[in-house]
Amino acid sequence: MKQVKLGSSEEQVSEMCLGTMMFGRRCDEKESDRILSFALDSGVNFIDTAAMYGEGKTEKILGRIIGNKRKNLFITTKVHKGIDSKSILESIDESLKRLQTDYIDLYLIHWPKEGMNPEEIMEALNKVTESGKTRFIGCSNYPAWLFTHSNCIAKLRGWKTFINHQVCYNLIERGIEVEVLPQAAAENIAITSYRPLALGLLTGKYKPEQPIPDDSRGYNDWRISTWLERYKVGILNFFQFAKDRELTPAQLAISWVRKSRGITCPIVGVSSLNQLKEGIKAFDFNLSDPEYKEVTDMFDTSVKEESGGEYKNLRRNLSLLK
Ligand SMILES: NC(=O)c1ccc[n+]([C@@H]2O[C@H](COP(=O)([O-])OP(=O)(O)OC[C@H]3O[C@@H](n4cnc5c(N)ncnc54)[C@H](OP(=O)(O)O)[C@@H]3O)[C@@H](O)[C@H]2O)c1
Repeated sequence: MKQVKLGSSEEQVSEMCLGTMMFGRRCDEKESDRILSFALDSGVNFIDTAAMYGEGKTEKILGRIIGNKRKNLFITTKVHKGIDSKSILESIDESLKRLQTDYIDLYLIHWPKEGMNPEEIMEALNKVTESGKTRFIGCSNYPAWLFTHSNCIAKLRGWKTFINHQVCYNLIERGIEVEVLPQAAAENIAITSYRPLALGLLTGKYKPEQPIPDDSRGYNDWRISTWLERYKVGILNFFQFAKDRELTPAQLAISWVRKSRGITCPIVGVSSLNQLKEGIKAFDFNLSDPEYKEVTDMFDTSVKEESGGEYKNLRRNLSLLK
């Protein structure tokens, strides 16, 4: 597993970041333990979690299974409560307790919120860094302008700045191509990208015009059935392209994200050890430039807000700040 530099920091992390959102949700503690151990043995040291996953259950599981592996890991977690100063200070203490550790490596604001105050947020994050509770800070799901706005305030005040932006990116959800990725490339921001498999749509387990398997995440998620219908031609071409190269669709989807300019580390989320064993092979395989282009063009690349909800409300939102 390749090591990569995390944006403007001097920190080296594994190119693959292991997503743990399914720990305690679709895989039990024993399987989570097997996944974590296999990831570590394969050279993955970068772990992503969040206080809100399973309402704290995922962090608790991690706390129990990490044990003496802590020093070998680079752990990201995210603020759970509000994003006022008091909530940030309380939230990190609660995460430290659940994770059974003295420090977080990278602490993120999970989502921007209506009426948020960037100055208050950056000051609180600076305090958390100065007190040694986290080594680095970042954010997730910010519009590009808000990332820069927050860092400008921090720089003016002499506070710590964001080094990382965690955002959604996959073959069909491409909104970050407009502003976030060019900004990251220009400003040396580490981009960690979640949902490389479009919730599992790009793994081959969902097939156009066939029922959604009832043991999958897609069974309870409207996005899978909507995307299956909307992208059926692209999806079938994508599966064939993978087959012709003796790759699984999941490996092809992760390889594509990995090769995308501006992406530092794809976050690979799994609900079983077998899924990890399959997906991790994408880090041993490099798409050629023509292959990358062909896969890119299989889907309609115009920018859309596929997931709706939060994204739709964030962009073009002129009342985000007080
Ligand atoms: N910052 C944020 O707002 C945010 C939001 C979401 C996620 N994240 C992070 O990103 C990570 C990944 O997100 P995600 O889980 O939504 O990613 P994803 O890559 O879109 O989907 C992962 C899902 O795909 C399926 N899968 C994975 N590998 C597979 C394989 N080899 N074969 C067949 N199916 C496979 C599993 O679904 P089944 O369980 O149905 O088998 C798995 O739960 C999370 O764990 C979390 O750490 C961050």
